[in-house]
Amino acid sequence: MKAIAFDAYGSADVLYPVELDLPVPGPGQVRIAVRSAGVNPLDHKIRSGGMAGLFPVDFPYVPGREASGVVEAVGDGVTEVRTGDAVLGPTVTGSYAERTLADAGRLVAKPGSMTWEEAAALPLAAETAWRVLELLQLREGETLLIHGAAGGVGTMAVQFARRRGVRVIGTASEANHAYLRGLGADPVTYGEGLAGRVRALAPDGVHAALDAVGKGDAVAVSVELTGGPDRVVTIADEDAGRHGVRFSNGTEPGASRTVPALTAALGLFESGILQLPIHHVYPLSEAAEAQRESERGHLTGKIVLAIA
Ligand SMILES: NC(=O)c1ccc[n+]([C@@H]2O[C@H](COP(=O)([O-])OP(=O)(O)OC[C@H]3O[C@@H](n4cnc5c(N)ncnc54)[C@H](OP(=O)(O)O)[C@@H]3O)[C@@H](O)[C@H]2O)c1
Repeated sequence: MKAIAFDAYGSADVLYPVELDLPVPGPGQVRIAVRSAGVNPLDHKIRSGGMAGLFPVDFPYVPGREASGVVEAVGDGVTEVRTGDAVLGPTVTGSYAERTLADAGRLVAKPGSMTWEEAAALPLAAETAWRVLELLQLREGETLLIHGAAGGVGTMAVQFARRRGVRVIGTASEANHAYLRGLGADPVTYGEGLAGRVRALAPDGVHAALDAVGKGDAVAVSVELTGGPDRVVTIADEDAGRHGVRFSNGTEPGASRTVPALTAALGLFESGILQLPIHHVYPLSEAAEAQRESERGHLTGKIVLAIA
Protein backbone atom coordinates (compact mmCIF):
# COMPACT_ATOMS: atom_id res chain seq x y z
CA MET A 1 0.00 0.00 0.00
CA LYS A 2 1.02 3.61 -0.51
CA ALA A 3 1.74 5.71 2.56
CA ILE A 4 3.62 8.82 3.66
CA ALA A 5 6.41 8.34 6.19
CA PHE A 6 9.51 9.89 7.71
CA ASP A 7 12.61 8.32 9.18
CA ALA A 8 14.24 11.29 10.85
CA TYR A 9 12.79 14.18 12.83
CA GLY A 10 12.73 17.50 11.03
CA SER A 11 10.70 19.91 8.88
CA ALA A 12 7.90 18.76 6.56
CA ASP A 13 10.65 18.06 3.99
CA VAL A 14 11.40 14.75 5.77
CA LEU A 15 8.05 13.30 4.63
CA TYR A 16 8.33 10.95 1.67
CA PRO A 17 6.07 8.46 -0.19
CA VAL A 18 6.64 4.82 0.68
CA GLU A 19 5.25 1.36 -0.23
CA LEU A 20 4.44 -0.75 2.84
CA ASP A 21 3.00 -4.19 3.53
CA LEU A 22 -0.68 -4.30 4.47
CA PRO A 23 -1.06 -4.07 8.27
CA VAL A 24 -2.62 -7.13 9.91
CA PRO A 25 -5.34 -6.47 12.52
CA GLY A 26 -4.68 -7.91 15.98
CA PRO A 27 -7.37 -8.98 18.45
CA GLY A 28 -10.07 -6.31 18.70
CA GLN A 29 -8.70 -4.41 15.71
CA VAL A 30 -9.85 -3.88 12.14
CA ARG A 31 -8.05 -2.87 8.96
CA ILE A 32 -9.64 0.11 7.23
CA ALA A 33 -9.30 1.00 3.55
CA VAL A 34 -8.78 4.71 4.16
CA ARG A 35 -10.81 7.22 2.18
CA SER A 36 -9.74 10.32 4.08
CA ALA A 37 -7.40 11.14 6.97
CA GLY A 38 -7.48 14.12 9.33
CA VAL A 39 -4.37 16.30 9.65
CA ASN A 40 -3.70 17.54 13.18
CA PRO A 41 -1.10 19.74 14.89
CA LEU A 42 -0.02 16.58 16.75
CA ASP A 43 1.23 15.19 13.44
CA HIS A 44 3.76 17.96 12.86
CA LYS A 45 4.68 18.15 16.53
CA ILE A 46 5.63 14.44 16.44
CA ARG A 47 7.43 14.86 13.10
CA SER A 48 9.53 17.78 14.36
CA GLY A 49 10.79 15.69 17.29
CA GLY A 50 9.29 18.19 19.73
CA MET A 51 7.28 15.43 21.39
CA ALA A 52 9.91 12.68 21.34
CA GLY A 53 9.64 12.43 25.13
CA LEU A 54 5.87 11.96 25.20
CA PHE A 55 5.43 10.16 21.85
CA PRO A 56 8.57 8.23 20.99
CA VAL A 57 8.23 6.69 17.51
CA ASP A 58 9.87 3.90 15.51
CA PHE A 59 11.11 4.78 12.01
CA PRO A 60 9.86 4.70 9.35
CA TYR A 61 6.86 6.38 10.99
CA VAL A 62 3.56 7.00 9.22
CA PRO A 63 1.75 10.07 10.64
CA GLY A 64 -1.99 10.44 11.19
CA ARG A 65 -4.28 9.46 14.05
CA GLU A 66 -7.78 9.54 12.55
CA ALA A 67 -9.55 8.33 9.43
CA SER A 68 -12.73 7.51 7.62
CA GLY A 69 -12.99 4.49 5.36
CA VAL A 70 -14.33 1.00 4.83
CA VAL A 71 -13.63 -1.98 7.10
CA GLU A 72 -11.65 -4.47 5.05
CA ALA A 73 -10.50 -7.12 7.56
CA VAL A 74 -11.36 -7.85 11.19
CA GLY A 75 -9.21 -9.32 13.96
CA ASP A 76 -10.20 -11.92 16.54
CA GLY A 77 -13.05 -11.01 18.84
CA VAL A 78 -14.40 -8.07 16.85
CA THR A 79 -18.17 -7.78 17.21
CA GLU A 80 -18.77 -4.04 16.80
CA VAL A 81 -18.27 -3.74 13.02
CA ARG A 82 -18.15 -5.97 9.94
CA THR A 83 -16.25 -6.07 6.70
CA GLY A 84 -17.75 -3.53 4.31
CA ASP A 85 -18.93 -1.10 7.01
CA ALA A 86 -18.24 2.60 6.40
CA VAL A 87 -16.70 3.96 9.61
CA LEU A 88 -14.83 6.83 11.18
CA GLY A 89 -12.65 7.01 14.26
CA PRO A 90 -9.17 7.24 15.76
CA THR A 91 -6.51 4.94 14.34
CA VAL A 92 -3.84 2.80 15.95
CA THR A 93 -1.38 2.97 13.04
CA GLY A 94 -0.69 5.93 10.76
CA SER A 95 -3.64 7.15 8.71
CA TYR A 96 -1.59 8.96 6.02
CA ALA A 97 -1.86 5.62 4.21
CA GLU A 98 -4.13 3.59 1.99
CA ARG A 99 -4.76 1.16 4.85
CA THR A 100 -4.67 1.63 8.63
CA LEU A 101 -5.57 -0.28 11.79
CA ALA A 102 -8.12 0.85 14.37
CA ASP A 103 -9.64 -0.49 17.59
CA ALA A 104 -13.11 -1.70 16.60
CA GLY A 105 -14.59 -0.48 19.89
CA ARG A 106 -13.65 3.13 19.13
CA LEU A 107 -15.25 3.32 15.67
CA VAL A 108 -18.70 4.62 14.75
CA ALA A 109 -20.73 4.17 11.57
CA LYS A 110 -20.37 6.94 9.00
CA PRO A 111 -23.76 8.39 8.01
CA GLY A 112 -24.39 7.92 4.29
CA SER A 113 -24.92 11.65 3.77
CA MET A 114 -21.64 12.64 5.41
CA THR A 115 -18.64 12.99 3.08
CA TRP A 116 -15.49 10.97 3.74
CA GLU A 117 -13.63 14.22 4.35
CA GLU A 118 -16.15 15.47 6.91
CA ALA A 119 -16.01 12.09 8.65
CA ALA A 120 -12.20 12.05 8.82
CA ALA A 121 -12.19 15.54 10.36
CA LEU A 122 -14.29 14.57 13.37
CA PRO A 123 -12.65 11.96 15.64
CA LEU A 124 -9.81 13.82 17.34
CA ALA A 125 -11.55 17.20 17.52
CA ALA A 126 -14.78 15.72 18.89
CA GLU A 127 -13.09 13.43 21.43
CA THR A 128 -10.82 16.19 22.73
CA ALA A 129 -13.57 18.79 23.01
CA TRP A 130 -15.90 16.32 24.74
CA ARG A 131 -13.20 15.23 27.18
CA VAL A 132 -12.27 18.77 28.20
CA LEU A 133 -15.87 19.85 28.73
CA GLU A 134 -16.30 16.84 31.03
CA LEU A 135 -13.14 17.72 32.95
CA LEU A 136 -14.40 21.29 33.36
CA GLN A 137 -17.79 20.03 34.59
CA LEU A 138 -19.69 22.76 32.80
CA ARG A 139 -23.24 23.48 33.85
CA GLU A 140 -26.05 25.19 32.02
CA GLY A 141 -25.92 28.97 32.33
CA GLU A 142 -22.15 29.13 32.89
CA THR A 143 -19.68 31.07 30.74
CA LEU A 144 -16.71 29.29 29.12
CA LEU A 145 -13.68 31.01 27.57
CA ILE A 146 -12.08 29.06 24.70
CA HIS A 147 -8.66 30.10 23.39
CA GLY A 148 -8.30 29.12 19.72
CA ALA A 149 -12.03 28.66 19.20
CA ALA A 150 -11.95 28.56 15.38
CA GLY A 151 -9.63 25.55 15.07
CA GLY A 152 -10.68 21.91 14.94
CA VAL A 153 -10.99 21.33 18.69
CA GLY A 154 -12.34 24.81 19.35
CA THR A 155 -15.06 24.43 16.72
CA MET A 156 -16.33 21.24 18.36
CA ALA A 157 -15.96 22.59 21.91
CA VAL A 158 -18.05 25.66 21.07
CA GLN A 159 -20.86 23.50 19.67
CA PHE A 160 -20.85 20.92 22.50
CA ALA A 161 -20.83 23.72 25.08
CA ARG A 162 -23.68 25.61 23.40
CA ARG A 163 -25.73 22.37 23.37
CA ARG A 164 -25.27 22.23 27.15
CA GLY A 165 -26.63 25.75 27.51
CA VAL A 166 -23.21 27.26 28.19
CA ARG A 167 -22.28 30.72 26.94
CA VAL A 168 -18.97 30.71 25.02
CA ILE A 169 -16.49 33.50 24.52
CA GLY A 170 -13.95 32.40 21.92
CA THR A 171 -10.60 33.93 21.00
CA ALA A 172 -9.74 34.15 17.30
CA SER A 173 -8.22 36.49 14.76
CA GLU A 174 -10.61 39.05 13.24
CA ALA A 175 -10.92 36.92 10.11
CA ASN A 176 -12.66 34.19 12.16
CA HIS A 177 -15.04 36.39 14.17
CA ALA A 178 -18.04 36.01 11.85
CA TYR A 179 -17.41 32.25 11.80
CA LEU A 180 -17.46 32.07 15.61
CA ARG A 181 -20.69 34.09 15.76
CA GLY A 182 -22.17 31.52 13.37
CA LEU A 183 -21.22 28.76 15.81
CA GLY A 184 -22.97 30.63 18.62
CA ALA A 185 -19.88 32.03 20.37
CA ASP A 186 -19.00 35.63 21.21
CA PRO A 187 -15.66 36.31 19.49
CA VAL A 188 -12.79 38.24 21.02
CA THR A 189 -9.40 39.08 19.55
CA TYR A 190 -6.39 37.50 21.32
CA GLY A 191 -3.18 39.31 22.32
CA GLU A 192 -2.36 42.25 24.56
CA GLY A 193 -5.36 43.37 26.64
CA LEU A 194 -7.31 40.10 26.28
CA ALA A 195 -8.42 39.95 29.94
CA GLY A 196 -9.98 43.41 29.72
CA ARG A 197 -11.81 42.61 26.50
CA VAL A 198 -13.23 39.41 28.00
CA ARG A 199 -14.32 41.27 31.16
CA ALA A 200 -16.15 43.79 28.98
CA LEU A 201 -18.05 40.92 27.33
CA ALA A 202 -18.68 39.06 30.60
CA PRO A 203 -18.95 41.54 33.46
CA ASP A 204 -20.31 38.79 35.72
CA GLY A 205 -17.22 36.67 35.16
CA VAL A 206 -16.01 33.55 33.40
CA HIS A 207 -16.56 30.19 35.09
CA ALA A 208 -14.13 27.98 33.14
CA ALA A 209 -11.56 28.09 30.36
CA LEU A 210 -10.13 25.80 27.70
CA ASP A 211 -6.73 26.64 26.24
CA ALA A 212 -6.39 25.16 22.76
CA VAL A 213 -3.51 27.47 21.81
CA GLY A 214 -0.67 26.89 24.27
CA LYS A 215 0.99 30.19 23.46
CA GLY A 216 1.22 33.66 24.95
CA ASP A 217 -0.69 34.35 28.13
CA ALA A 218 -3.71 32.12 27.44
CA VAL A 219 -3.26 30.05 30.60
CA ALA A 220 -2.35 33.01 32.83
CA VAL A 221 -5.33 35.06 31.60
CA SER A 222 -7.61 32.05 32.15
CA VAL A 223 -6.50 31.66 35.77
CA GLU A 224 -6.94 35.39 36.32
CA LEU A 225 -10.45 35.47 34.83
CA THR A 226 -11.81 32.30 36.45
CA GLY A 227 -10.26 33.17 39.84
CA GLY A 228 -7.95 30.14 40.06
CA PRO A 229 -6.54 27.12 38.23
CA ASP A 230 -9.23 24.56 39.15
CA ARG A 231 -11.54 25.11 36.21
CA VAL A 232 -8.89 25.76 33.58
CA VAL A 233 -7.70 22.95 31.28
CA THR A 234 -5.07 23.24 28.58
CA ILE A 235 -4.56 20.75 25.78
CA ALA A 236 -1.65 22.65 24.25
CA ASP A 237 0.62 23.92 27.03
CA GLU A 238 2.53 21.03 28.58
CA ASP A 239 4.17 23.43 31.00
CA ALA A 240 0.88 24.68 32.48
CA GLY A 241 1.65 23.00 35.81
CA ARG A 242 3.58 26.17 36.68
CA HIS A 243 0.17 27.85 37.00
CA GLY A 244 -1.37 24.83 38.75
CA VAL A 245 -3.40 24.14 35.61
CA ARG A 246 -4.22 20.67 34.26
CA PHE A 247 -2.75 19.55 30.94
CA SER A 248 -5.08 16.98 29.37
CA ASN A 249 -3.77 14.60 26.72
CA GLY A 250 -6.40 11.87 26.78
CA THR A 251 -4.55 9.51 29.11
CA GLU A 252 -6.82 10.35 32.05
CA PRO A 253 -8.23 7.25 33.74
CA GLY A 254 -11.76 6.18 32.90
CA ALA A 255 -13.68 4.78 29.98
CA SER A 256 -12.86 5.90 26.43
CA ARG A 257 -14.80 9.02 25.55
CA THR A 258 -14.45 8.50 21.81
CA VAL A 259 -17.77 6.80 21.13
CA PRO A 260 -19.88 9.16 23.33
CA ALA A 261 -18.15 12.15 21.73
CA LEU A 262 -18.62 10.89 18.17
CA THR A 263 -22.21 9.89 18.90
CA ALA A 264 -22.92 13.42 20.14
CA ALA A 265 -21.25 14.93 17.07
CA LEU A 266 -23.20 12.66 14.72
CA GLY A 267 -26.37 13.65 16.58
CA LEU A 268 -25.67 17.27 15.65
CA PHE A 269 -24.97 16.17 12.07
CA GLU A 270 -28.27 14.27 11.81
CA SER A 271 -30.06 17.39 13.12
CA GLY A 272 -28.41 19.38 10.33
CA ILE A 273 -26.57 21.72 12.70
CA LEU A 274 -23.05 20.28 12.95
CA GLN A 275 -20.38 22.64 11.66
CA LEU A 276 -16.81 21.44 11.13
CA PRO A 277 -15.71 23.15 7.94
CA ILE A 278 -13.00 21.59 5.84
CA HIS A 279 -10.31 24.26 5.62
CA HIS A 280 -8.45 22.46 2.83
CA VAL A 281 -8.36 18.99 1.21
CA TYR A 282 -4.95 17.74 -0.01
CA PRO A 283 -4.19 14.53 -1.90
CA LEU A 284 -2.04 12.02 0.01
CA SER A 285 0.93 12.92 -2.20
CA GLU A 286 0.78 16.51 -0.84
CA ALA A 287 0.82 15.54 2.84
CA ALA A 288 3.93 17.69 3.41
CA GLU A 289 2.11 20.79 2.16
CA ALA A 290 -0.87 19.88 4.34
CA GLN A 291 1.39 19.78 7.40
CA ARG A 292 3.03 23.07 6.44
CA GLU A 293 -0.38 24.72 6.35
CA SER A 294 -1.33 23.10 9.67
CA GLU A 295 1.91 24.44 11.18
CA ARG A 296 1.11 28.00 10.06
CA GLY A 297 -1.80 27.57 12.46
CA HIS A 298 -4.61 29.88 11.31
CA LEU A 299 -7.28 27.41 10.29
CA THR A 300 -11.04 27.63 10.17
CA GLY A 301 -11.99 24.01 10.88
CA LYS A 302 -9.85 21.12 9.65
CA ILE A 303 -7.34 20.05 7.02
CA VAL A 304 -7.82 16.53 5.62
CA LEU A 305 -6.15 14.25 3.10
CA ALA A 306 -8.20 12.61 0.35
CA ILE A 307 -6.77 9.11 -0.07
CA ALA A 308 -8.99 7.07 -2.34
N1 LIG B 1 -3.83 17.29 24.36
C1 LIG B 1 -4.72 16.81 23.53
O1 LIG B 1 -5.41 15.82 23.79
C2 LIG B 1 -4.91 17.51 22.20
C3 LIG B 1 -5.84 17.04 21.26
C4 LIG B 1 -6.05 17.77 20.10
C5 LIG B 1 -5.30 18.93 19.88
N2 LIG B 1 -4.36 19.31 20.80
C6 LIG B 1 -3.60 20.55 20.61
O2 LIG B 1 -4.51 21.64 20.74
C7 LIG B 1 -4.13 22.69 19.87
C8 LIG B 1 -5.30 23.03 18.96
O3 LIG B 1 -5.56 21.94 18.11
P1 LIG B 1 -6.51 22.13 16.85
O4 LIG B 1 -6.54 20.85 16.12
O5 LIG B 1 -7.77 22.79 17.26
O6 LIG B 1 -5.62 23.19 16.04
P2 LIG B 1 -5.96 24.00 14.71
O7 LIG B 1 -7.14 23.40 14.07
O8 LIG B 1 -4.68 24.14 14.00
O9 LIG B 1 -6.44 25.44 15.23
C9 LIG B 1 -5.64 26.32 15.88
C10 LIG B 1 -6.43 27.64 16.00
O10 LIG B 1 -5.71 28.48 16.88
C11 LIG B 1 -5.92 29.84 16.47
N3 LIG B 1 -4.75 30.60 16.91
C12 LIG B 1 -3.50 30.62 16.40
N4 LIG B 1 -2.71 31.39 17.18
C13 LIG B 1 -3.48 31.84 18.21
C14 LIG B 1 -3.26 32.65 19.36
N5 LIG B 1 -2.04 33.18 19.61
N6 LIG B 1 -4.29 32.86 20.22
C15 LIG B 1 -5.52 32.34 19.98
N7 LIG B 1 -5.80 31.55 18.90
C16 LIG B 1 -4.78 31.32 18.04
C17 LIG B 1 -6.10 29.79 14.99
O11 LIG B 1 -7.14 30.70 14.64
P3 LIG B 1 -6.92 32.19 14.10
O12 LIG B 1 -6.72 32.10 12.63
O13 LIG B 1 -8.22 32.81 14.47
O14 LIG B 1 -5.70 32.73 14.79
C18 LIG B 1 -6.59 28.36 14.71
O15 LIG B 1 -7.95 28.35 14.34
C19 LIG B 1 -2.86 22.19 19.15
O16 LIG B 1 -1.74 22.68 19.85
C20 LIG B 1 -2.95 20.68 19.26
O17 LIG B 1 -1.70 20.05 19.19
C21 LIG B 1 -4.15 18.63 21.93
